[in-house]
Amino acid sequence: MHRIERVVLVGFSGTGKTTVARLVAQRLGWTSVDTDVAIEAAYGIDIPQIFRLHGESAFRTAERAALAHAIALCDIVVATGGGATIDPAVWSEDLLGRAGTLVVTLDAQPAAIRCRLRAQQEAEGSSAERPLLSGDDPLGRIARLKEERQVSYDASPITLVVDHATPELIADEIAAIVGGISGLGMPQIRLNAASAPSQILVGTGLSRRLGDLVRTQWPRANRVWVVTDETVGELYGQECLDGLIAAGSDGSLITVPIGERSKSLEQVRRLYDWLLNGGVERGDVVVAYGGGVVGDLAGFVAATVLRGVELVQVPTSLLAMVDSSVGGKTGINHPAGKNLIGAFLQPSLVVIDPSALETLPHRHVVAGWAEIVKHAVIQASTPGGERGDLATFLARNARALSPAVDPAISYLIWRNVDLKARVVTADEREAGIRAFLNFGHTLGHAIEAAGYTLLHGEAVALGMRAAMRIGSQLGLCEDADVARVDALLDQFGLPRHAPLDAKLVMAGLTSDKKRAAGRQRWVMPLAGGGVKLRDDVAPEMVEAALHAVVQP
Ligand SMILES: NC(=O)c1ccc[n+]([C@@H]2O[C@H](COP(=O)([O-])OP(=O)(O)OC[C@H]3O[C@@H](n4cnc5c(N)ncnc54)[C@H](O)[C@@H]3O)[C@@H](O)[C@H]2O)c1
Repeated sequence: MHRIERVVLVGFSGTGKTTVARLVAQRLGWTSVDTDVAIEAAYGIDIPQIFRLHGESAFRTAERAALAHAIALCDIVVATGGGATIDPAVWSEDLLGRAGTLVVTLDAQPAAIRCRLRAQQEAEGSSAERPLLSGDDPLGRIARLKEERQVSYDASPITLVVDHATPELIADEIAAIVGGISGLGMPQIRLNAASAPSQILVGTGLSRRLGDLVRTQWPRANRVWVVTDETVGELYGQECLDGLIAAGSDGSLITVPIGERSKSLEQVRRLYDWLLNGGVERGDVVVAYGGGVVGDLAGFVAATVLRGVELVQVPTSLLAMVDSSVGGKTGINHPAGKNLIGAFLQPSLVVIDPSALETLPHRHVVAGWAEIVKHAVIQASTPGGERGDLATFLARNARALSPAVDPAISYLIWRNVDLKARVVTADEREAGIRAFLNFGHTLGHAIEAAGYTLLHGEAVALGMRAAMRIGSQLGLCEDADVARVDALLDQFGLPRHAPLDAKLVMAGLTSDKKRAAGRQRWVMPLAGGGVKLRDDVAPEMVEAALHAVVQP
Protein backbone atom coordinates (compact mmCIF):
# COMPACT_ATOMS: atom_id res chain seq x y z
CA MET A 1 0.00 0.00 0.00
CA HIS A 2 1.10 3.57 -0.72
CA ARG A 3 1.75 6.15 1.95
CA ILE A 4 -1.65 7.03 3.38
CA GLU A 5 -2.45 10.65 2.47
CA ARG A 6 -6.07 10.75 3.53
CA VAL A 7 -8.59 8.80 5.56
CA VAL A 8 -12.28 8.62 4.64
CA LEU A 9 -14.78 7.46 7.23
CA VAL A 10 -17.96 5.84 5.96
CA GLY A 11 -20.89 4.20 7.72
CA PHE A 12 -24.42 4.74 8.95
CA SER A 13 -25.53 7.98 10.64
CA GLY A 14 -24.84 8.03 14.33
CA THR A 15 -21.66 5.95 14.23
CA GLY A 16 -19.56 8.95 15.21
CA LYS A 17 -17.80 9.70 11.92
CA THR A 18 -17.57 13.47 12.46
CA THR A 19 -16.16 13.28 15.98
CA VAL A 20 -13.78 10.47 15.11
CA ALA A 21 -12.59 12.33 11.99
CA ARG A 22 -11.73 15.36 14.11
CA LEU A 23 -9.86 13.22 16.66
CA VAL A 24 -7.94 11.25 14.00
CA ALA A 25 -6.93 14.53 12.35
CA GLN A 26 -5.68 15.81 15.72
CA ARG A 27 -3.59 12.69 16.24
CA LEU A 28 -2.04 12.84 12.78
CA GLY A 29 -1.63 16.63 12.66
CA TRP A 30 -4.01 16.75 9.67
CA THR A 31 -7.27 18.63 9.05
CA SER A 32 -10.75 17.14 9.06
CA VAL A 33 -13.79 17.87 6.95
CA ASP A 34 -17.40 16.69 7.11
CA THR A 35 -19.03 16.52 3.68
CA ASP A 36 -22.53 17.07 5.15
CA VAL A 37 -21.37 20.27 6.84
CA ALA A 38 -19.70 21.44 3.60
CA ILE A 39 -22.92 20.85 1.63
CA GLU A 40 -25.07 22.63 4.21
CA ALA A 41 -22.69 25.59 4.07
CA ALA A 42 -22.88 25.67 0.26
CA TYR A 43 -26.71 25.62 0.22
CA GLY A 44 -27.14 27.76 3.34
CA ILE A 45 -29.81 25.34 4.68
CA ASP A 46 -29.71 22.03 6.53
CA ILE A 47 -29.87 18.60 4.91
CA PRO A 48 -33.56 17.77 5.56
CA GLN A 49 -34.41 21.07 3.87
CA ILE A 50 -32.09 20.33 0.93
CA PHE A 51 -33.92 17.00 0.51
CA ARG A 52 -37.31 18.73 0.69
CA LEU A 53 -36.55 21.64 -1.60
CA HIS A 54 -34.11 20.12 -4.10
CA GLY A 55 -34.62 16.34 -3.83
CA GLU A 56 -32.25 13.49 -2.96
CA SER A 57 -30.54 13.39 -6.35
CA ALA A 58 -29.43 17.03 -6.05
CA PHE A 59 -28.09 16.23 -2.60
CA ARG A 60 -26.18 13.16 -3.88
CA THR A 61 -24.63 15.22 -6.69
CA ALA A 62 -23.51 17.83 -4.18
CA GLU A 63 -22.22 15.06 -1.93
CA ARG A 64 -20.10 13.61 -4.75
CA ALA A 65 -18.68 17.04 -5.52
CA ALA A 66 -17.83 17.64 -1.83
CA LEU A 67 -16.18 14.22 -1.63
CA ALA A 68 -14.19 14.79 -4.84
CA HIS A 69 -13.03 18.15 -3.52
CA ALA A 70 -11.89 16.66 -0.20
CA ILE A 71 -10.23 13.64 -1.82
CA ALA A 72 -8.13 15.87 -4.04
CA LEU A 73 -6.42 17.09 -0.84
CA CYS A 74 -3.69 15.43 1.24
CA ASP A 75 -3.33 15.02 5.00
CA ILE A 76 -7.06 15.16 5.50
CA VAL A 77 -9.65 13.04 7.32
CA VAL A 78 -13.08 13.08 5.66
CA ALA A 79 -16.34 12.22 7.43
CA THR A 80 -19.03 11.27 4.90
CA GLY A 81 -22.80 11.14 5.15
CA GLY A 82 -24.57 7.85 5.89
CA GLY A 83 -25.62 7.35 2.24
CA ALA A 84 -22.38 8.45 0.59
CA THR A 85 -21.38 4.92 -0.45
CA ILE A 86 -24.75 3.80 -1.89
CA ASP A 87 -23.65 4.46 -5.45
CA PRO A 88 -20.93 1.89 -6.35
CA ALA A 89 -19.31 4.52 -8.61
CA VAL A 90 -18.07 6.21 -5.44
CA TRP A 91 -15.33 3.52 -5.27
CA SER A 92 -13.81 4.75 -8.57
CA GLU A 93 -10.14 5.72 -8.76
CA ASP A 94 -10.83 9.43 -8.50
CA LEU A 95 -12.96 9.06 -5.37
CA LEU A 96 -12.67 6.43 -2.62
CA GLY A 97 -10.42 4.24 -4.78
CA ARG A 98 -7.80 6.96 -5.15
CA ALA A 99 -4.23 5.85 -4.33
CA GLY A 100 -3.17 6.76 -0.79
CA THR A 101 -6.76 6.72 0.52
CA LEU A 102 -7.66 4.58 3.51
CA VAL A 103 -11.41 4.03 3.79
CA VAL A 104 -12.63 2.89 7.21
CA THR A 105 -16.21 1.87 7.95
CA LEU A 106 -17.55 2.64 11.41
CA ASP A 107 -20.25 0.16 12.33
CA ALA A 108 -22.71 -0.20 15.21
CA GLN A 109 -25.84 -2.16 16.02
CA PRO A 110 -29.16 -0.40 15.14
CA ALA A 111 -30.05 -0.08 18.83
CA ALA A 112 -26.75 1.68 19.57
CA ILE A 113 -27.29 3.93 16.54
CA ARG A 114 -30.76 4.92 17.77
CA CYS A 115 -29.35 5.77 21.23
CA ARG A 116 -26.56 7.87 19.73
CA LEU A 117 -28.93 9.73 17.38
CA ARG A 118 -31.30 10.43 20.29
CA ALA A 119 -28.44 11.77 22.38
CA GLN A 120 -27.33 13.99 19.49
CA GLN A 121 -30.87 15.28 18.99
CA GLU A 122 -31.18 16.12 22.68
CA ALA A 123 -27.81 17.87 22.66
CA GLU A 124 -28.74 19.92 19.61
CA GLY A 125 -32.18 20.90 20.99
CA SER A 126 -35.71 20.14 19.81
CA SER A 127 -35.32 22.19 16.64
CA ALA A 128 -32.87 19.62 15.26
CA GLU A 129 -34.75 17.38 12.86
CA ARG A 130 -33.77 13.70 12.78
CA PRO A 131 -35.95 12.03 10.11
CA LEU A 132 -34.67 8.61 11.15
CA LEU A 133 -36.08 9.09 14.65
CA SER A 134 -39.49 10.52 13.76
CA GLY A 135 -42.74 8.52 13.52
CA ASP A 136 -43.36 4.94 14.66
CA ASP A 137 -40.73 2.23 14.96
CA PRO A 138 -37.51 4.25 14.48
CA LEU A 139 -35.46 1.18 15.43
CA GLY A 140 -37.07 -0.89 12.65
CA ARG A 141 -36.49 1.93 10.16
CA ILE A 142 -32.82 2.26 11.14
CA ALA A 143 -32.35 -1.53 10.95
CA ARG A 144 -33.99 -1.79 7.49
CA LEU A 145 -32.11 1.16 6.00
CA LYS A 146 -28.82 -0.05 7.46
CA GLU A 147 -29.44 -3.54 6.07
CA GLU A 148 -30.06 -2.05 2.60
CA ARG A 149 -26.83 -0.09 2.76
CA GLN A 150 -24.68 -2.70 4.48
CA VAL A 151 -23.23 -4.08 1.28
CA SER A 152 -21.93 -0.63 0.38
CA TYR A 153 -20.31 -0.21 3.82
CA ASP A 154 -18.77 -3.66 3.59
CA ALA A 155 -16.90 -2.66 0.44
CA SER A 156 -14.33 -0.82 2.56
CA PRO A 157 -11.12 -2.65 3.47
CA ILE A 158 -11.63 -2.36 7.20
CA THR A 159 -14.60 -2.07 9.53
CA LEU A 160 -14.30 -0.99 13.16
CA VAL A 161 -17.18 -1.81 15.47
CA VAL A 162 -17.91 1.21 17.64
CA ASP A 163 -20.86 0.07 19.82
CA HIS A 164 -18.92 0.05 23.07
CA ALA A 165 -15.80 2.01 22.12
CA THR A 166 -15.18 5.69 22.82
CA PRO A 167 -14.44 8.00 19.85
CA GLU A 168 -10.97 8.54 21.36
CA LEU A 169 -10.21 4.83 21.27
CA ILE A 170 -11.48 4.46 17.70
CA ALA A 171 -9.37 7.47 16.68
CA ASP A 172 -6.29 5.88 18.31
CA GLU A 173 -6.92 2.67 16.37
CA ILE A 174 -7.28 4.49 13.04
CA ALA A 175 -4.16 6.58 13.64
CA ALA A 176 -2.32 3.33 14.45
CA ILE A 177 -3.52 1.72 11.22
CA VAL A 178 -2.30 4.72 9.21
CA GLY A 179 1.12 4.40 10.85
CA GLY A 180 1.23 0.64 10.26
CA ILE A 181 0.72 0.87 6.53
CA SER A 182 2.66 4.06 5.94
CA GLY A 183 5.97 2.50 6.94
CA LEU A 184 5.93 4.35 10.28
CA GLY A 185 4.86 1.23 12.18
CA MET A 186 1.94 0.70 14.52
CA PRO A 187 2.45 2.02 18.06
CA GLN A 188 5.15 -0.05 19.69
CA ILE A 189 4.06 -2.81 22.06
CA ARG A 190 6.18 -3.37 25.13
CA LEU A 191 5.90 -6.71 26.85
CA ASN A 192 7.09 -6.11 30.41
CA ALA A 193 7.83 -9.68 31.44
CA ALA A 194 9.29 -10.41 34.87
CA SER A 195 12.54 -11.77 33.36
CA ALA A 196 13.14 -9.03 30.76
CA PRO A 197 11.20 -6.62 28.56
CA SER A 198 10.45 -7.33 24.93
CA GLN A 199 9.89 -4.58 22.38
CA ILE A 200 7.50 -5.51 19.57
CA LEU A 201 7.22 -3.57 16.31
CA VAL A 202 4.51 -4.16 13.68
CA GLY A 203 4.50 -2.43 10.30
CA THR A 204 4.68 -2.96 6.58
CA GLY A 205 8.26 -2.72 5.30
CA LEU A 206 9.85 -3.00 8.76
CA SER A 207 12.01 -6.00 7.81
CA ARG A 208 13.98 -3.72 5.51
CA ARG A 209 14.97 -1.73 8.59
CA LEU A 210 16.12 -4.81 10.53
CA GLY A 211 19.83 -4.04 10.06
CA ASP A 212 19.46 -0.54 11.53
CA LEU A 213 17.23 -1.73 14.34
CA VAL A 214 19.72 -4.42 15.40
CA ARG A 215 22.74 -2.14 15.04
CA THR A 216 21.11 0.60 17.09
CA GLN A 217 20.15 -1.77 19.89
CA TRP A 218 23.43 -3.73 19.99
CA PRO A 219 26.14 -1.43 18.58
CA ARG A 220 28.90 -3.57 20.10
CA ALA A 221 27.70 -7.04 19.05
CA ASN A 222 30.53 -9.02 17.49
CA ARG A 223 28.23 -10.79 15.07
CA VAL A 224 24.57 -11.27 14.17
CA TRP A 225 23.63 -14.94 13.62
CA VAL A 226 20.58 -15.43 11.41
CA VAL A 227 18.71 -18.74 11.58
CA THR A 228 16.09 -19.40 8.93
CA ASP A 229 14.62 -22.33 7.03
CA GLU A 230 15.26 -23.33 3.43
CA THR A 231 12.13 -21.68 2.01
CA VAL A 232 12.32 -18.41 3.93
CA GLY A 233 16.09 -18.29 3.44
CA GLU A 234 15.67 -18.54 -0.31
CA LEU A 235 13.10 -15.71 -0.30
CA TYR A 236 14.50 -13.29 2.27
CA GLY A 237 17.94 -14.54 3.39
CA GLN A 238 20.08 -12.40 1.12
CA GLU A 239 18.00 -9.27 1.74
CA CYS A 240 18.37 -9.83 5.48
CA LEU A 241 22.15 -10.29 5.31
CA ASP A 242 22.55 -7.30 2.99
CA GLY A 243 20.56 -5.15 5.42
CA LEU A 244 22.69 -6.23 8.39
CA ILE A 245 25.93 -5.61 6.50
CA ALA A 246 24.74 -2.24 5.17
CA ALA A 247 24.06 -1.21 8.77
CA GLY A 248 27.62 -2.17 9.75
CA SER A 249 27.02 -5.58 11.38
CA ASP A 250 28.90 -8.77 10.65
CA GLY A 251 26.15 -11.22 9.68
CA SER A 252 26.14 -15.00 9.19
CA LEU A 253 23.20 -17.12 8.08
CA ILE A 254 22.30 -20.79 8.40
CA THR A 255 19.25 -22.63 7.06
CA VAL A 256 17.46 -25.62 8.56
CA PRO A 257 15.13 -27.97 6.67
CA ILE A 258 11.50 -26.80 6.57
CA GLY A 259 8.89 -28.25 8.88
CA GLU A 260 8.24 -29.43 12.40
CA ARG A 261 10.91 -32.11 12.26
CA SER A 262 13.57 -29.43 12.52
CA LYS A 263 12.54 -28.85 16.13
CA SER A 264 14.96 -31.64 17.04
CA LEU A 265 18.11 -32.25 19.10
CA GLU A 266 19.88 -32.96 15.80
CA GLN A 267 19.23 -29.42 14.53
CA VAL A 268 20.03 -27.94 17.93
CA ARG A 269 23.37 -29.71 17.78
CA ARG A 270 23.98 -28.38 14.24
CA LEU A 271 23.25 -24.82 15.35
CA TYR A 272 25.50 -25.16 18.45
CA ASP A 273 28.33 -26.34 16.18
CA TRP A 274 27.79 -23.43 13.80
CA LEU A 275 27.75 -20.86 16.60
CA LEU A 276 30.53 -22.26 18.77
CA ASN A 277 32.88 -23.11 15.92
CA GLY A 278 32.18 -19.65 14.49
CA GLY A 279 33.20 -17.91 17.73
CA VAL A 280 29.85 -16.75 19.13
CA GLU A 281 30.18 -14.35 22.08
CA ARG A 282 27.83 -13.50 24.97
CA GLY A 283 26.91 -10.08 23.52
CA ASP A 284 26.01 -11.53 20.11
CA VAL A 285 22.55 -11.58 18.62
CA VAL A 286 20.66 -14.56 17.21
CA VAL A 287 17.94 -13.60 14.73
CA ALA A 288 15.16 -16.18 14.26
CA TYR A 289 13.92 -15.34 10.77
CA GLY A 290 10.95 -17.52 9.78
CA GLY A 291 7.87 -19.29 11.05
CA GLY A 292 7.22 -20.77 14.47
CA VAL A 293 9.54 -23.71 13.86
CA VAL A 294 12.56 -21.46 13.30
CA GLY A 295 11.44 -19.22 16.16
CA ASP A 296 11.16 -22.07 18.66
CA LEU A 297 14.37 -23.79 17.53
CA ALA A 298 16.61 -20.72 17.20
CA GLY A 299 15.09 -19.31 20.39
CA PHE A 300 16.00 -22.47 22.32
CA VAL A 301 19.54 -22.40 20.98
CA ALA A 302 19.86 -18.68 21.85
CA ALA A 303 18.56 -19.40 25.36
CA THR A 304 21.10 -22.13 26.00
CA VAL A 305 24.31 -21.44 24.06
CA LEU A 306 26.82 -19.76 26.41
CA ARG A 307 23.89 -19.75 28.89
CA GLY A 308 22.04 -17.28 26.75
CA VAL A 309 22.69 -14.69 24.04
CA GLU A 310 20.43 -11.94 22.67
CA LEU A 311 17.41 -12.99 20.61
CA VAL A 312 15.50 -11.15 17.88
CA GLN A 313 12.38 -12.72 16.39
CA VAL A 314 11.44 -11.83 12.80
CA PRO A 315 8.30 -13.91 12.24
CA THR A 316 7.29 -14.57 8.64
CA SER A 317 4.24 -16.83 8.98
CA LEU A 318 0.86 -15.61 10.20
CA LEU A 319 1.01 -18.00 13.16
CA ALA A 320 4.44 -16.76 14.19
CA MET A 321 3.39 -13.10 13.78
CA VAL A 322 0.33 -13.37 16.02
CA ASP A 323 1.60 -15.90 18.50
CA SER A 324 4.87 -17.83 18.62
CA SER A 325 7.33 -14.93 18.18
CA VAL A 326 5.91 -13.18 21.25
CA GLY A 327 6.16 -14.30 24.87
CA GLY A 328 9.52 -16.02 25.11
CA LYS A 329 8.59 -19.70 24.94
CA THR A 330 11.18 -21.64 22.97
CA GLY A 331 11.64 -25.35 22.51
CA ILE A 332 11.98 -28.53 20.53
CA ASN A 333 10.07 -31.79 20.29
CA HIS A 334 10.86 -35.23 21.71
CA PRO A 335 9.52 -38.59 20.53
CA ALA A 336 7.41 -38.53 23.73
CA GLY A 337 5.59 -35.34 22.63
CA LYS A 338 5.70 -31.78 21.35
CA ASN A 339 7.71 -28.98 22.92
CA LEU A 340 8.82 -31.18 25.82
CA ILE A 341 12.31 -29.68 25.90
CA GLY A 342 12.55 -25.92 26.08
CA ALA A 343 13.39 -22.71 27.87
CA PHE A 344 11.99 -19.24 28.40
CA LEU A 345 13.87 -16.41 26.71
CA GLN A 346 12.21 -13.09 25.98
CA PRO A 347 13.32 -11.80 22.58
CA SER A 348 14.57 -8.25 23.25
CA LEU A 349 13.14 -7.28 19.88
CA VAL A 350 10.34 -8.68 17.69
CA VAL A 351 10.07 -7.19 14.19
CA ILE A 352 6.80 -8.04 12.45
CA ASP A 353 6.47 -7.09 8.80
CA PRO A 354 3.08 -8.25 7.49
CA SER A 355 4.26 -7.90 3.89
CA ALA A 356 6.06 -11.27 4.28
CA LEU A 357 2.59 -12.86 4.19
CA GLU A 358 2.47 -12.21 0.45
CA THR A 359 4.68 -15.26 -0.11
CA LEU A 360 3.21 -17.52 2.59
CA PRO A 361 1.44 -20.55 1.04
CA HIS A 362 -2.34 -20.56 1.48
CA ARG A 363 -2.44 -23.65 3.71
CA HIS A 364 -0.10 -21.96 6.19
CA VAL A 365 -2.13 -18.74 6.11
CA VAL A 366 -5.21 -20.78 7.00
CA ALA A 367 -3.35 -22.55 9.82
CA GLY A 368 -2.33 -19.18 11.27
CA TRP A 369 -5.94 -18.17 11.74
CA ALA A 370 -6.34 -20.88 14.39
CA GLU A 371 -4.30 -18.93 16.97
CA ILE A 372 -6.23 -15.75 16.11
CA VAL A 373 -9.54 -17.53 16.72
CA LYS A 374 -8.04 -18.84 19.98
CA HIS A 375 -7.33 -15.28 21.08
CA ALA A 376 -10.89 -14.28 20.17
CA VAL A 377 -12.28 -17.12 22.32
CA ILE A 378 -10.16 -16.39 25.41
CA GLN A 379 -10.28 -12.58 25.11
CA ALA A 380 -13.02 -12.08 27.72
CA SER A 381 -10.73 -13.67 30.35
CA THR A 382 -7.68 -11.55 29.52
CA PRO A 383 -6.70 -7.97 30.47
CA GLY A 384 -7.39 -5.01 28.16
CA GLY A 385 -10.81 -5.79 26.71
CA GLU A 386 -11.61 -2.10 26.03
CA ARG A 387 -10.29 -2.47 22.47
CA GLY A 388 -13.51 -4.19 21.44
CA ASP A 389 -14.44 -7.75 20.73
CA LEU A 390 -11.99 -9.58 18.45
CA ALA A 391 -14.59 -12.15 17.42
CA THR A 392 -16.90 -9.35 16.23
CA PHE A 393 -14.02 -7.77 14.35
CA LEU A 394 -13.28 -11.11 12.65
CA ALA A 395 -16.92 -11.58 11.70
CA ARG A 396 -17.33 -8.02 10.36
CA ASN A 397 -14.10 -8.10 8.34
CA ALA A 398 -14.38 -11.61 6.93
CA ARG A 399 -14.06 -10.55 3.31
CA ALA A 400 -11.23 -8.09 3.87
CA LEU A 401 -9.13 -10.38 6.02
CA SER A 402 -6.87 -11.71 3.37
CA PRO A 403 -3.15 -11.05 3.57
CA ALA A 404 -3.45 -9.14 0.30
CA VAL A 405 -5.62 -6.50 1.95
CA ASP A 406 -3.18 -4.83 4.21
CA PRO A 407 -4.98 -2.44 6.59
CA ALA A 408 -7.14 -5.07 8.22
CA ILE A 409 -4.43 -7.67 8.57
CA SER A 410 -1.75 -5.37 10.06
CA TYR A 411 -4.28 -4.07 12.54
CA LEU A 412 -5.36 -7.58 13.43
CA ILE A 413 -1.77 -8.78 13.97
CA TRP A 414 -1.15 -5.78 16.21
CA ARG A 415 -4.32 -6.49 18.23
CA ASN A 416 -3.34 -10.14 18.68
CA VAL A 417 0.19 -9.31 19.73
CA ASP A 418 -1.17 -6.73 22.17
CA LEU A 419 -3.46 -9.35 23.72
CA LYS A 420 -0.67 -11.90 24.07
CA ALA A 421 1.77 -9.30 25.43
CA ARG A 422 -0.69 -8.29 28.15
CA VAL A 423 -1.21 -11.90 29.17
CA VAL A 424 2.52 -12.69 29.28
CA THR A 425 3.28 -9.45 31.14
CA ALA A 426 0.79 -10.52 33.80
CA ASP A 427 2.04 -14.10 34.02
CA GLU A 428 5.29 -14.93 32.21
CA ARG A 429 5.83 -18.41 33.71
CA GLU A 430 2.27 -19.67 33.28
CA ALA A 431 1.30 -19.74 36.94
CA GLY A 432 -2.12 -18.33 36.07
CA ILE A 433 -3.73 -16.69 33.05
CA ARG A 434 -0.97 -17.53 30.56
CA ALA A 435 -2.38 -21.06 30.64
CA PHE A 436 -5.47 -19.67 28.86
CA LEU A 437 -3.31 -19.35 25.73
CA ASN A 438 -3.26 -23.15 25.68
CA PHE A 439 -6.96 -23.26 24.81
CA GLY A 440 -7.34 -26.05 22.23
CA HIS A 441 -3.70 -27.06 22.64
CA THR A 442 -4.07 -29.98 25.08
CA LEU A 443 -5.80 -32.09 22.46
CA GLY A 444 -4.25 -30.05 19.64
CA HIS A 445 -0.70 -31.10 20.54
CA ALA A 446 -1.76 -34.75 20.86
CA ILE A 447 -3.55 -34.56 17.48
CA GLU A 448 -0.52 -32.92 15.88
CA ALA A 449 1.92 -35.42 17.34
CA ALA A 450 -0.19 -38.40 16.17
CA GLY A 451 1.73 -38.59 12.92
CA TYR A 452 2.69 -34.95 12.26
CA THR A 453 0.55 -34.92 9.13
CA LEU A 454 -1.40 -31.83 10.20
CA LEU A 455 0.05 -28.35 10.60
CA HIS A 456 0.16 -26.96 14.13
CA GLY A 457 -2.68 -24.52 13.46
CA GLU A 458 -4.85 -27.20 11.86
CA ALA A 459 -4.39 -29.49 14.87
CA VAL A 460 -5.13 -26.61 17.28
CA ALA A 461 -8.33 -25.85 15.34
CA LEU A 462 -9.49 -29.44 15.88
CA GLY A 463 -8.39 -29.22 19.51
CA MET A 464 -10.53 -26.09 19.95
CA ARG A 465 -13.56 -27.70 18.33
CA ALA A 466 -13.17 -30.67 20.71
CA ALA A 467 -12.59 -28.39 23.74
CA MET A 468 -15.81 -26.52 22.95
CA ARG A 469 -17.69 -29.83 22.92
CA ILE A 470 -16.18 -30.89 26.25
CA GLY A 471 -17.15 -27.48 27.68
CA SER A 472 -20.71 -27.95 26.56
CA GLN A 473 -20.84 -31.49 28.03
CA LEU A 474 -19.61 -30.03 31.34
CA GLY A 475 -22.38 -27.42 31.19
CA LEU A 476 -19.85 -24.55 31.05
CA CYS A 477 -21.10 -23.28 27.72
CA GLU A 478 -24.08 -23.71 25.40
CA ASP A 479 -24.53 -25.38 22.03
CA ALA A 480 -24.70 -21.84 20.60
CA ASP A 481 -21.14 -21.20 21.81
CA VAL A 482 -19.93 -24.40 20.13
CA ALA A 483 -21.65 -23.29 16.91
CA ARG A 484 -20.18 -19.76 17.19
CA VAL A 485 -16.59 -21.03 17.48
CA ASP A 486 -17.17 -23.65 14.77
CA ALA A 487 -18.42 -20.85 12.49
CA LEU A 488 -15.33 -18.72 13.16
CA LEU A 489 -13.03 -21.65 12.37
CA ASP A 490 -15.09 -22.48 9.26
CA GLN A 491 -14.88 -18.83 8.16
CA PHE A 492 -11.12 -19.19 7.76
CA GLY A 493 -11.24 -22.64 6.18
CA LEU A 494 -9.82 -24.53 9.16
CA PRO A 495 -10.47 -28.30 9.15
CA ARG A 496 -13.55 -29.87 10.77
CA HIS A 497 -12.00 -33.30 11.16
CA ALA A 498 -8.91 -35.30 10.29
CA PRO A 499 -8.32 -38.95 9.43
CA LEU A 500 -6.52 -40.03 12.63
CA ASP A 501 -6.72 -42.86 15.13
CA ALA A 502 -8.39 -41.51 18.28
CA LYS A 503 -6.60 -44.13 20.43
CA LEU A 504 -3.24 -42.80 19.29
CA VAL A 505 -4.28 -39.27 20.15
CA MET A 506 -5.55 -40.35 23.59
CA ALA A 507 -2.21 -42.09 24.23
CA GLY A 508 -0.38 -38.85 23.32
CA LEU A 509 -2.34 -36.91 25.95
CA THR A 510 -0.43 -38.49 28.82
CA SER A 511 2.78 -36.68 27.87
CA ASP A 512 1.21 -33.21 27.87
CA LYS A 513 3.24 -30.72 29.94
CA LYS A 514 0.16 -29.13 31.40
CA ARG A 515 -0.39 -31.82 34.01
CA ALA A 516 -0.34 -31.16 37.71
CA ALA A 517 -0.25 -33.97 40.32
CA GLY A 518 -0.94 -36.45 37.53
CA ARG A 519 -4.11 -34.65 36.43
CA GLN A 520 -4.59 -33.12 33.01
CA ARG A 521 -5.28 -29.39 33.09
CA TRP A 522 -7.90 -28.27 30.56
CA VAL A 523 -8.67 -24.77 29.38
CA MET A 524 -12.44 -24.84 29.10
CA PRO A 525 -14.72 -22.37 27.32
CA LEU A 526 -17.38 -20.33 29.11
CA ALA A 527 -20.78 -19.31 27.79
CA GLY A 528 -20.56 -16.09 25.75
CA GLY A 529 -16.74 -16.09 25.62
CA GLY A 530 -13.78 -16.44 27.95
CA VAL A 531 -12.27 -19.55 29.53
CA LYS A 532 -11.40 -21.19 32.86
CA LEU A 533 -9.12 -24.01 34.00
CA ARG A 534 -10.53 -27.43 34.95
CA ASP A 535 -8.74 -30.61 35.98
CA ASP A 536 -11.79 -32.85 36.37
CA VAL A 537 -12.51 -33.78 32.76
CA ALA A 538 -13.29 -37.49 32.51
CA PRO A 539 -11.42 -39.43 29.79
CA GLU A 540 -14.78 -40.64 28.39
CA MET A 541 -15.80 -37.05 27.80
CA VAL A 542 -12.52 -36.34 26.03
CA GLU A 543 -12.92 -39.43 23.88
CA ALA A 544 -16.47 -38.49 22.91
CA ALA A 545 -15.37 -34.98 21.89
CA LEU A 546 -12.37 -36.37 20.06
CA HIS A 547 -14.59 -38.67 17.99
CA ALA A 548 -16.34 -35.55 16.66
CA VAL A 549 -13.06 -34.31 15.12
CA VAL A 550 -10.92 -37.36 14.30
CA GLN A 551 -12.07 -40.41 12.39
CA PRO A 552 -9.78 -43.12 11.01
N1 LIG B 1 6.63 -20.53 21.14
C1 LIG B 1 5.34 -20.36 21.13
O1 LIG B 1 4.78 -19.63 21.95
C2 LIG B 1 4.51 -21.03 20.08
C3 LIG B 1 3.17 -20.70 19.91
C4 LIG B 1 2.45 -21.28 18.87
C5 LIG B 1 3.08 -22.19 18.04
N2 LIG B 1 4.39 -22.50 18.23
C6 LIG B 1 5.08 -23.44 17.34
O2 LIG B 1 5.12 -22.85 16.04
C7 LIG B 1 5.27 -23.89 15.09
C8 LIG B 1 4.37 -23.63 13.91
O3 LIG B 1 4.73 -22.43 13.31
P1 LIG B 1 4.42 -22.12 11.76
O4 LIG B 1 3.02 -22.45 11.49
O5 LIG B 1 4.93 -20.79 11.49
O6 LIG B 1 5.25 -23.24 11.03
P2 LIG B 1 6.61 -23.18 10.18
O7 LIG B 1 7.66 -22.47 10.92
O8 LIG B 1 6.88 -24.58 9.79
O9 LIG B 1 6.24 -22.31 8.92
C9 LIG B 1 5.28 -22.77 8.03
C10 LIG B 1 5.84 -22.97 6.61
O10 LIG B 1 5.75 -21.75 5.95
C11 LIG B 1 6.99 -21.40 5.37
N3 LIG B 1 7.09 -19.94 5.49
C12 LIG B 1 7.13 -19.20 6.61
N4 LIG B 1 7.08 -17.90 6.31
C13 LIG B 1 7.01 -17.82 4.97
C14 LIG B 1 6.90 -16.74 4.06
N5 LIG B 1 6.81 -15.48 4.47
N6 LIG B 1 6.86 -17.02 2.74
C15 LIG B 1 6.90 -18.31 2.29
N7 LIG B 1 6.96 -19.37 3.11
C16 LIG B 1 7.02 -19.12 4.43
C17 LIG B 1 8.03 -22.15 6.16
O11 LIG B 1 9.16 -22.40 5.36
C18 LIG B 1 7.28 -23.42 6.52
O12 LIG B 1 7.39 -24.34 5.47
C19 LIG B 1 4.96 -25.18 15.80
O13 LIG B 1 6.14 -25.89 16.03
C20 LIG B 1 4.38 -24.74 17.13
O14 LIG B 1 4.63 -25.65 18.17
C21 LIG B 1 5.11 -21.93 19.23
